[in-house]
Amino acid sequence: MDGQPEQIAAAVTRLREGGLVAFPTETVYGLGADALRADAVQKVFEAKGRPASNPLIVHVADEAMAARVVASWPAEARKLAERFWPGPLSIVLPKAPVVPAIVTGGGPNVAVRCPAHPLTLALIAAFDGPLVGPSANVSGFVSPTTAAHVREAFDERDVLVLDGGDCVGGIESTVVSVVGGKARVLRSGLIDAAVIGEVLGREVECADSGSISVTPNASTPAESPGQLSSHYAPRAKAVLVDAGQIKRVVLGVKGECVVIAREEEEGLPEADALSSQGKPHVIRMPRDAKGYARRLYAALREADALHPELIVIVTPPDQSVHPVWRAVRDRLKRATA
Ligand code: TXA
Ligand code: MG
Repeated sequence: MDGQPEQIAAAVTRLREGGLVAFPTETVYGLGADALRADAVQKVFEAKGRPASNPLIVHVADEAMAARVVASWPAEARKLAERFWPGPLSIVLPKAPVVPAIVTGGGPNVAVRCPAHPLTLALIAAFDGPLVGPSANVSGFVSPTTAAHVREAFDERDVLVLDGGDCVGGIESTVVSVVGGKARVLRSGLIDAAVIGEVLGREVECADSGSISVTPNASTPAESPGQLSSHYAPRAKAVLVDAGQIKRVVLGVKGECVVIAREEEEGLPEADALSSQGKPHVIRMPRDAKGYARRLYAALREADALHPELIVIVTPPDQSVHPVWRAVRDRLKRATA
């Protein structure tokens, strides 16, 4: 990549000034700042409009850097990091005192992850310290999977954007807590609970059941506060509908209607026939789970850009077909909550 050393040098300078740098990862773009500086992390919360109670993931270059931000680096974490890092797995453990409370939303634990993108690994290594990295979107809105998505959300004067191309994964990392030796998936992602279980040699609970109502009970603090029901949402109203119901739903929409469906989805010929009459606008998605995940957020943004009255998303298969469908359905349920 031409100009990469200069880009990284400029980004490191920005980080040393306590400023913000958006960086590419294999999942989505992150909004980076020095994880060990409360004033820098504060700017991330302000730029995103993120509630102070929602903790940030700390991005590291390797296990050694991870060990600096946690109280201890137990065998479970070692096994997971050796198998999945760099990659889309965030590991939650009790934090080290060096991590400011603002990073963890005031809580005792910190999530750490080593992202699989050469540009960002080079950035963290050059900075020689961990970076916070929430998805680089305004809080509650759809996560960014291209540098252009990030530039739409933030002023270039406030956020230096490192362009590392389109994200290949497309949805956020799996968040797994190994606090107290118990392994629990708090947010589903590209790495499935069952595979984590195989590596740890035991069953792993999945707190993210994929159910619609995951809004935490007001009286009990959420274990993973980002898991609010309305999230990853386009601005237009969006609904999840079974293929057989498309015609009925679409015919009920008076204004612009966008249908998001997999190629060769049964029931879609109907939507295509309607489409030839000018309605609805159909966005075709890859049939396979990983391909669908990679396209998902860009498709939601495309749909939103048409300012439709309604976005109709055809319910994709479930995890019995492929484990990644669990994470996809989780994001779709939140996008339509
Ligand atoms: O793939 C990703 O994880 C992306 C890229 C940029 O790395 N980042 C990302 O960050 O998705 P964010 O802030 O958009 O989502 C972080 C999620 C939230 O649901 C948050 O509540 C949870 O991780 N989380 C962060 N720290 C936690 C902690 N200490 N305990 C429990 N959950 C935590
Ligand atoms: Mg996010």
